[in-house]
Parts: sequence; C-alpha cells; structure tokens
Amino acid sequence: MIVTTKELFAHAYGRYAIGAYNINNLEQCMGLFQGNVQSRAPFIVQISKGARSYTHKKMLEALIRTANEIFPDAIFAVHLDHGDEATCYDCIDSGFYSSVMIDASSEPFETNVEITKRVVEAAHAKGVVVEAELGMLGGVEEHVSVAEADAKLTDPAQAEEFVKRTGCDSLACAIGTSHGAYKFSGTQSLHFEVLEAIQKRLPGFPLVMHGSSSVPKEEVDRINAAGGQIKGAKGVDESQFKRAAQLGVTKVNIDTDGRLVWCRVHREYFRDHPENFDLRPPGKVFMKEYAAFIAHKNEVLGSAGQLDAVRAVVKPRA
Ligand code: G3H
Ligand code: 13P
Ligand code: ZN
Repeated sequence: MIVTTKELFAHAYGRYAIGAYNINNLEQCMGLFQGNVQSRAPFIVQISKGARSYTHKKMLEALIRTANEIFPDAIFAVHLDHGDEATCYDCIDSGFYSSVMIDASSEPFETNVEITKRVVEAAHAKGVVVEAELGMLGGVEEHVSVAEADAKLTDPAQAEEFVKRTGCDSLACAIGTSHGAYKFSGTQSLHFEVLEAIQKRLPGFPLVMHGSSSVPKEEVDRINAAGGQIKGAKGVDESQFKRAAQLGVTKVNIDTDGRLVWCRVHREYFRDHPENFDLRPPGKVFMKEYAAFIAHKNEVLGSAGQLDAVRAVVKPRA
C-alpha cells in the first residue's frame, strides 16, 4: 500500500525512525520489500535522479507497482531523493510519487526559500508531500559536491523561519553526517545539540537525517579481501538512531550500506566461483542478503514490528 510520508511520520514521531532506502534495480526492489515485510516495518522507497535515468524513469516505477502487488502487506511511501525543481514537477505530475525532496540547499537562503515554496505549492495541489533541505552535508550528491570545509550545520533559527515560510512537510538537517562510502576522516559525530535546538523551535515537526550509512568495517574488509580497494571511514553509529528519533528524526536515509552489500556479495561470489558467469546465482544471494540487511536496519531504527499499528492509522494514497 502506497501512503504519504506525512502519515508515516505522524505515527513515528518521537518514537522511532523510518528507513528510507535508495533502489536502482530489480534485485534491490525485491530484497527491499522482502526485508521490510519480514521485519514488519513501514518504509520509504527512495529514487534519486540518477536512479530514474539509470534505465528509464518508468522502469523503477513499474518494479515498485509490481512489488506492491506481490507483497500486499507492505506499507510504504515512494519518494524522490535530492530532486531539483524540474525533476520534482515531473514526479509530482507522474501521480506515482507520494513524496518529493527539493534540494536547493546549495543555494543562498532566500533562493532556497523561493524554490522550495514553489515546489510545495505544486506538490500540495496534488496531495504530494515535500521534504526540503537546509544546511549543507559534506560528500557527493548528484548535483552537489561539498568539501568538508564547506559543509554547514543547519542553523536552528533559520530552520524555524524556513519551515514557516516554505510550508514544507519535513526538513533534512545537516547535523554532521555526509554522503557516500568515502565519508570524512574518522567517525561521524552526530550533533545532537543542533537537533535538540531545532526540535525546541519546531516541536512535532518531522526531521530527516541524510548520509546515515554506517559503512561497517567488516563489510569493507570483506570487499577488500575479495579484490576491492575501498578506504571507507566509519559512518553513523547505528546505536545513535534511536536517540535521534526521540529528537524528531522520523526518516533516516540509507543508500551506501546497501551498495556495499551488493559489492561484497558479487565480489565474493565470483571470487569463490571463478568458473561461473551466470548473473542469477549471485543475484539470488544478493536479494537474500539485502533483505536481511534491511531487516537489521529496521531493528536499529525501531521501525521493525510497527507495520500493523501503522496499518490501523493510514489509508492508501488516492
Ligand atoms: O544522496 C545521494 C544518494 O545516495 C543517491 O545517490 O545520486 O548516486 O543515486 P545517486
Ligand atoms: P549514505 O550515502 O550515507 O547512504 O546516505 C544516503 C542519502 O542520504 C540519500 O539521500
Ligand atoms: Zn541524501
């Protein structure tokens, strides 16, 4: 059942966070639905601009529609990740996305407000909800590459003004995380004091944490032992998610860790079966491992086991 993020956030707020997982292909789509249904968790499927153009923008849409039929128990939102203005309008007009992110965070504050306001107006007219971003995460996104020195934590007073002026439904805040496997040196420390200050100014308002992969050392070590050359710093400590949830984080974005699972499974499979060239055997292993990975993330986010309670309070998107 496709629902809006707004309904999911209303149920989760202050208690747990919902996993927002980026997908690009069939195997991720199957593993994602399996893992969420197995762990009885509501979730958010995220599609980036790059994911839309990987094959055709309609392809992932078709996979998700079909997964919705194969897994009638699943409750999820379909979300555009890091959209620019034109892509937001395309997704709003498609009628399929229940939520879009307008990321104008690299623009000056006033321009970010103007762009976000325009997208909110267009989205709300069609029942689509909007995530916006204020502050600058480090790392690499499709249309933004931010050096560590330029990354800026979200200013709580600006966050309050931004939300009031734009009417956005949730806000991605920069609180010390960054995107990708090549995260900044050392461990990422979450700035809980910034979250606390934002929550004080915007009580009950859903916040979003990007760049939330953990880049587990064991995963990186296994990839490297099978021929990889990844020098990953540590990402977000999973034990911090629940505290973040208490401070208003309702959505936690995870992409990189899933890519690491994909890389590890395929590298190990072909290392251990050098005579094989078939894509299905490692694909099967990947779907199973990806499902287990999703179920684990839902446990640490606190969303595991919430599916039936959520079902009682949401309705399918018209
Ligand atoms: O934050 C970016 C997401 O991880 C999406 O990555 O643009 O390579 O699909 P992508
Ligand atoms: P990671 O690169 O840490 O997985 O972050 C993903 C993300 O924020 C997608 O928007
Ligand atoms: Zn992101």
